[in-house]
Amino acid sequence: MTTRININGIIEEDAVVSVLDHGFLFGDSIYEVVSTRGNRPCFLDEHLQRLRRSAEGIALTLPHDDEWFCQQVAFTLGSAGNTESYIRIIVTRGIGEIDIDPSTCHSPCVLIFVTSARIYPREWYENGIHLAVVNTKRNLKDALNPGIKTGNYLNNVLAKMESDRLGAQDALMLNSWGQLAESTTSNFFFVREGRILTPALDCGILAGITRNTVIRLAEENGFLVEEGEWPVEVLEKADEMFLTGTVKQIMPVTRLDGKIIGDGKPGSITRKLIHLYENLLKGLG
Ligand code: PDD
Repeated sequence: MTTRININGIIEEDAVVSVLDHGFLFGDSIYEVVSTRGNRPCFLDEHLQRLRRSAEGIALTLPHDDEWFCQQVAFTLGSAGNTESYIRIIVTRGIGEIDIDPSTCHSPCVLIFVTSARIYPREWYENGIHLAVVNTKRNLKDALNPGIKTGNYLNNVLAKMESDRLGAQDALMLNSWGQLAESTTSNFFFVREGRILTPALDCGILAGITRNTVIRLAEENGFLVEEGEWPVEVLEKADEMFLTGTVKQIMPVTRLDGKIIGDGKPGSITRKLIHLYENLLKGLG
């Protein structure tokens, strides 16, 4: 496993970020996680588009165009030379005074972190994971919009710690109105009577790139997909559940709060979508 860190266009062995960087001090930063197929980035255009939307969301001007990001990602991937990679692109507000006012930060810091691909245990895909509905609510859309992928992930960190204490592999977070929202680093789907259901973007979630792809693939293959606002009780009648995300891809959920979902195995629609998604990725490699 080789890790390479590209900082402002230069690969440095011992890359460091200043303690006065507002990304470190206040979580004043944005980021993207990108996976690879054949060690080439998947959906990089979509990730760069979202990075740009996140930058707008925190009024940060990206110091480079997409072409620069593509070149630097390729350069860093090539330098690390792993078989498959985990790519994290981070843009921080930069160095400023030790005060929340971002106007003292004049130069954003751009990091491209490349290491070998993170792989979850095979068993999690074969048997499904245990998800816990946590008390930690997803950030209010009007406060820190989950639609902006900022480096301030404390909300999600606290939810993850809560799910760990509950003995689950991940957390299902609700919004402040008690509606289903998302997991800590992935989007949430459930299946009921053959229909695929997922919280709407208005519930205060990240517009996941995997979520989008899965919705498209499902619709193209004749499934009915519905985005909506649901209380957690709707899950009592769910036949299947799964999470989607760049690293997890499509991860079946077979236990919710300790209760078995369906027959306790990944459901047929979830398996079909995993197959369709895998075929799509194969085509990218
Ligand atoms: N997480 N919701 C949240 C809160 C996320 O952090 C992510 C991604 C997703 C799924 O988005 P996508 O399908 O575009 O990866 C949903 C990345 C993988 C992470 O932070 O590690």
